[in-house]
Amino acid sequence: MSGCPFLAGRPIVGHLMAMRRDPLLFHQAISNNNGDIFKLRLGLETFFVVNHPNLIDHVFTKNTSNYVKSHHYKRMNYLLGDGIFTATGEEWKRRRRLAQPAFQGDSLTAAFDAMKPAVQSFLARMSTASGSTISLSAEATRLSLDMVLRAFFGINDSSDAAVIASALAELMPELDRRIWAILPPAVRALTPAARRAKAALKAINEALHRLIVRRLKDDEVRDNLLGLLVRAERDAGWSTESLKRLRDEAMVFLVAGHETTASTLTWAWYLLSLHPSIGRQLEASVVGAPGEGSEWAERIFQETMRLHPPGWLLTRSALKDDVLGGVRIPAGANLIVCIHALHRHPRVWPNPEGFDPDRFLPENAKNIPKGAYLPFGAGDRVCIGRRLAMMQGALVLTETARQFRFDLVPGQRIVAKAAVTVHASPAVRVVVSTRGSFATLARPIAPPTTTTNVAGVESRAGPQLDALSHPSPDAGVVLQCRRA
Ligand code: HEM
Repeated sequence: MSGCPFLAGRPIVGHLMAMRRDPLLFHQAISNNNGDIFKLRLGLETFFVVNHPNLIDHVFTKNTSNYVKSHHYKRMNYLLGDGIFTATGEEWKRRRRLAQPAFQGDSLTAAFDAMKPAVQSFLARMSTASGSTISLSAEATRLSLDMVLRAFFGINDSSDAAVIASALAELMPELDRRIWAILPPAVRALTPAARRAKAALKAINEALHRLIVRRLKDDEVRDNLLGLLVRAERDAGWSTESLKRLRDEAMVFLVAGHETTASTLTWAWYLLSLHPSIGRQLEASVVGAPGEGSEWAERIFQETMRLHPPGWLLTRSALKDDVLGGVRIPAGANLIVCIHALHRHPRVWPNPEGFDPDRFLPENAKNIPKGAYLPFGAGDRVCIGRRLAMMQGALVLTETARQFRFDLVPGQRIVAKAAVTVHASPAVRVVVSTRGSFATLARPIAPPTTTTNVAGVESRAGPQLDALSHPSPDAGVVLQCRRA
């Protein structure tokens, strides 16, 4: 059993302040400059940071039943209640069993079909906006929410949808603020933002309540997620808890199902406008070609989630003693896996900061080590919506590339901001142009063999992984790291 480097930081706060200043940069720096597993103190808590694909695969997949979601997820209960995302043990298993059928087989196809009109509305809005400037972030959020509402709740541009959209616009930033809050909850509750969020929470709860009651009275068989969950509660015998359970679950699917997709779509379009040659390859692959989601679009979506995984930091708690990379993990220990740092680790990815969708060509993807690419998590708690998310992402990127191009408004300084998810900040602004007004598309373009990273360096895809490196007991934190 070997020792484990300990990044203790300052008395009392440990490394908490450094992490709060720039969470992504902080984690990338400690991950690149320390071993496969090390200890990190954040405030009064100490975490094991797991920093090698093999070890991450062990935690999430091989020994998944030993590592449960840590208590930190409870910070989201303010909005998500006790739904599937934060539940643990038997309660989580029950909820997962109930929801799973909505994400497979015919129900998955039905959910995908139900969200297509949302894409049509989005394309119509882009057509109207042609020639003008839009906020990509706002449009991606509107589209993603519309897709979830249609697919899982069976509602479209109704008044309930409008109430939910405006409430979430208030609540998502509040959830972010709560993650990093320093003020005690009682003091924070007095701030204007917290008061607005409280009103928004009331409004969204009432809207969800209306939807649930309507579905409860509805005898028509509905195979969408809400219909499935309501029927299960009714069949099990309605109790006073039923309404709360349904409200919490509906909220989880609303939040988990739209924020992540919106963030990835925004980043994908942003990256495509930074890399016009890749954008043109996508356009050439979809214009005039049948099919709802091209493989090109899928790879672009995958590579976007590598560089900007919405679920950037996952935490777990060990149920029993274990050994990871020669280090003893006692029962009750908390673990951090920073997916954002893992996806940019130079030991795992050649040209880690470069945007290269070719990494996900089948011949290259097969070389990606297990535990190295986890945009949807892995193991028991893997994202339930991952297949739908991939289908949605590929469809939206394909349909958009067929008709439109987005050009960045010059002079913007976009940075990645991490809270509950990683989003582009400030909102990305682009000018929309319609096919026909951009001339060069029709000519066939050969598939790329090289790519250029944002620093202008050419590279080839084809990740390789070294053997486990040895943790060095005196490894220190180095906080100098270039951000692309
Ligand atoms: C690009 C899109 C998406 C990304 C990147 C993403 C990412 C993730 C990640 C990383 C987790 C695991 C969290 C952890 O282990 O701590 C997760 C879980 C989850 N996701 Fe997604 N997600 C996406 C889309 C969706 C969609 C469309 C839905 C459904 C409408 C959804 C519903 C959920 C739920 C319910 C869980 C919790 C599952 C459980 O604990 O059993 N996600 N997602």
